[in-house]
Formats: sequence, C-alpha cells, structure tokens
Amino acid sequence: MSIKKTITIGKKTNQPITINRFGYGTMQLTGDLVWGEPKNRTEALQILKSAVNKGIQFIDTADFYGPDVTNRLIAEALYPYPSDLVICTKVGLSRSSDKGWRPFNTPENLRKSIERNLKTLKLDQIQLVHLRIMPNTETPFEKQLETMFEMQNEGKILHVGLSNVNPNELNVALKMGHIASVENAFGYRQRTTFKVHGQEYRGLEGVMPLCIKNEIPMIPFWSLQNSLPKNDDKISVIADKYNATSAQINLAWLLHYNELLLPIPGTSQLKHFDENIKAFDISLTDEDMKFLG
Ligand SMILES: NC(=O)c1ccc[n+]([C@@H]2O[C@H](COP(=O)([O-])OP(=O)(O)OC[C@H]3O[C@@H](n4cnc5c(N)ncnc54)[C@H](OP(=O)(O)O)[C@@H]3O)[C@@H](O)[C@H]2O)c1
Repeated sequence: MSIKKTITIGKKTNQPITINRFGYGTMQLTGDLVWGEPKNRTEALQILKSAVNKGIQFIDTADFYGPDVTNRLIAEALYPYPSDLVICTKVGLSRSSDKGWRPFNTPENLRKSIERNLKTLKLDQIQLVHLRIMPNTETPFEKQLETMFEMQNEGKILHVGLSNVNPNELNVALKMGHIASVENAFGYRQRTTFKVHGQEYRGLEGVMPLCIKNEIPMIPFWSLQNSLPKNDDKISVIADKYNATSAQINLAWLLHYNELLLPIPGTSQLKHFDENIKAFDISLTDEDMKFLG
C-alpha cells in the first residue's frame, strides 16, 4: 500500500503550500512540565538541524512552550530558514508563573501572542497559526476566530488553522473563512475526546469527516504519548513483521490511516527522532491495516 508522501496546506486558497507529510513537534524540547530550557540544549539544537536536513518541512511550536524556549531554539538552529520550511505556531494559551496553562484568547491577547511569536521566531509573517481552543472560556469562539482572520488580512498570518476543535466549532469556522488545518489529539490507542485534570482534549475522530469533506490537513498531537505506554499486542505483531519498533508502527499506521494526516511526533532524543522518521518509509499492506484496525 503506497502512501501519499506530500500534503498541501491551504489547497483551496491562492497560496497553497505543499510539503513532505511528516513533521516534528517541538514540545519535548523544553525542561520538565514544558517549562524552561531543555536538559540537553546541544541535542535539542541538533534535532532541529537534523530534522531539516532529513526532509522535515513542518515544525510545530508555540510561544507558551517554555515560554518562548522552543521558538528561540528554532530560530537559533535554523534561521535564516529554508524557503520550504513551514513553522506552525499556536495562540490562545499562555503560562502562569506556577507553570500552569491559562486561556489567553481575548482579541488583545491573541494579538500580543502573534507579535511575540513573530519576534522570537524572527519572522514577518507566520505561514500557519492554529487558534488553540480552550473550551468554556469567556471570549466567544467566533470573536477569537474573527481576530485571527483580521491578523491574516493584515499579513501577519498566511494560513489560519484550529486546534482542539469540536465538530460544532469547526462547522461555524468553515462558514467564517478558510480553515487550513486542524490539530487535535489522535493516535492508535486514543482517537476520541478525553479529559485530564478537568481539561478537555478533543480527538480528531469527531472532526475527521468534516476535514475529509473539506480536504483539510489533520495534524495529530499526542500520537505516541497516549499509545506507546500501552504495549499493544497488535502493534507488536506488525513491528516484528517489519523488524520495526512500536513507535515506528504507530506512526506508519497514522500515515496509512488517512492521507490528510500529517504526523508531528515529539521527542527530546536524537536517536528517537532518527527512529521515528524511518516510519515514513514503512509500507503497510491492506491486511496489516485491517489487522491493526
Ligand atoms: N495543539 C495542542 O494542544 C498540542 C498539545 C500537545 C502537543 N502538541 C504538539 O504535538 C507534538 C507531539 O506531541 P508530544 O510531543 O507531546 O507527544 P507525542 O509525540 O505523542 O510523544 C512524545 C513522547 O513520546 C516519546 N517518544 C518519542 N519517540 C519515541 C520513540 N521512538 N520511542 C520511545 N518513546 C518515544 C517522547 O520521549 P523522548 O523525548 O524521550 O523521546 C515523549 O515522551 C508536540 O511536540 C507539540 O508540538 C500540540
């Protein structure tokens, strides 16, 4: 079964971007609790450089990782950026001094966050920005998205995407403007919405039909974190068949599951990065996919 190796963001716009269909998520490149500098700064910079050298054209980040740590590492490792690199950031959240996460999604704060991302990433325009939805916050979703489209009109953002979105919100958003991508939680062992410490993490499965209908790229987060620790028997069988690791089969499964999926596995280890990217070359059969389910 051959997989589609590229994906187009903003396909229905006049500025589509086609990139390799395997990205890298930077959230693991900070200290514990997504706070402060990484334990091994040299390795963090090496991973980013190696990612680009090995064909990664999509890097996921946020100004609230660190805060600012991953953005600064990206700039240090890769600026001036290759012209075909998409750096995707997200807004809607910020960090409190106790390392917590809080909504930061009033129009004024969304603007502050974009300016902060532009500064730390050393960019004049960000190719893709996800509005990261925090359910049940004060600022209405429509108002938040309106601000995103305003900043797009002003040229600060090229494409607007949504993260942690539910089907109702996505339907509303599609009537308001072009949605270039959706970033929700999704992995082999966790495909639907779940809650951790009262926070709702929306799964991709619920919005997938809408994304497929509208040809919207789907960016799964936590595709390893929620699946790897479960030591799945079926994954192990396929891993043995291809002399691969569980992580590689989890990622290969994503790549075969739907051609609109763009994996962004995160890691703080160069050896795991090298292992993960090899999943791009694993070709599963229809029988493998049926077996995995
Ligand atoms: N939009 C959102 O709300 C949201 C939320 C969360 C994350 N994200 C984005 O999604 C990206 C991916 O999520 P994530 O990094 O949190 O989790 P993930 O990709 O699901 O998994 C990362 C975890 O898996 C481990 N890992 C990676 N490769 C491995 C391998 N080959 N073998 C064994 N363990 C391996 C990592 O540990 P090591 O570091 O030791 O390799 C880390 O603990 C993030 O980096 C971030 O950019 C977005």
